[in-house]
Amino acid sequence: DQTGTRDRSAVALPRARKTTKVAVVGAGAVGSTMAYAALMRGSARTVALFDINKAKVEAEALDLAHGIQFMPMAQVVGSDDVAVCADADVIMVTAGAKQKPGQTRIDLAEATIGLVSKILPSLLEVAPDAIYVMVTNPVDIVTYASLKITGLPPTQLFGSGTVLDSSRLRYLIAEHAGVAVQNVHAYMAGEHGDSEIPLWSSATIGGVPLLDWSGIEGRGALTLSDRDEIAHEVVNSAYRIIEGKGATNYAVALAGTRIIEAVLNDENRVLPVSTLLDDYYGISDICLSVPTLVGRRGCTDRLAVPLSPVEIRGLQHSATALKAVARQFGY
Ligand code: 2OP
Repeated sequence: DQTGTRDRSAVALPRARKTTKVAVVGAGAVGSTMAYAALMRGSARTVALFDINKAKVEAEALDLAHGIQFMPMAQVVGSDDVAVCADADVIMVTAGAKQKPGQTRIDLAEATIGLVSKILPSLLEVAPDAIYVMVTNPVDIVTYASLKITGLPPTQLFGSGTVLDSSRLRYLIAEHAGVAVQNVHAYMAGEHGDSEIPLWSSATIGGVPLLDWSGIEGRGALTLSDRDEIAHEVVNSAYRIIEGKGATNYAVALAGTRIIEAVLNDENRVLPVSTLLDDYYGISDICLSVPTLVGRRGCTDRLAVPLSPVEIRGLQHSATALKAVARQFGY
């Protein structure tokens, strides 16, 4: 090149990479906190918040945007126009009726099914390829109904299930054993609600089967009554929090970001999400939580976790209870 100018057309410029986007539907306590958690953790490059309440969603997005300087690189947008969710990689549906003190999650079924059947078709128009994660309660029923409403494959649409309940379980085991919660592996399975069960037989503390745990530093084993007490506390955690502050938001938001990251980073993470089962220990045609692989293609495989006879019966009982509710609403 004797002229000193370079032929730029010969240089292959790198293409701009598509960045990740998560859309959170519902700017209530759960949705707004989930957007905050996703931004704080740098889960996605763009966080979009959608709600029919224009003033609320714009205010939440503005408040979050003012904090972006102190967070990992990200962008936040909020709107009452569903187009804000366009081309999202993951959509977290948190919109729905609020559980009042004394109400069960199942009590919300009618209102929430009505709501998601209105929202989902318009979301599908703007984000047909997104992975859809239902968070709204009763999450298992809502997930099952949403699969019927959308016709999406069960890999692409599932529920947050007992990811939160399992973190409550691990927290309580860790407290009892005096071991870091990160070293405790244990799942709550079945309904995200009153009929859920702990899978004690596969639980481990630092690789030691929980049922063989003999205790350390003056702390004892987890006896049957300790385990019952822990299970009872897990099942009733949400009631206690709702009684005290009207809603749960922090832990559920973090459980949501765990799912978002498993999908966006294609982690193949084992998470107890609520999916449509097909002959899992004889359970079919209902959504509930069992340990499941979550990655970029959504939910691909359920793990054949060994279950004790009591756990099998518990899971089947949970399935029967959920089916009765689903049928009641015509699903
Ligand atoms: C929770 O478990 C209420 O489902 C909500 O925190």
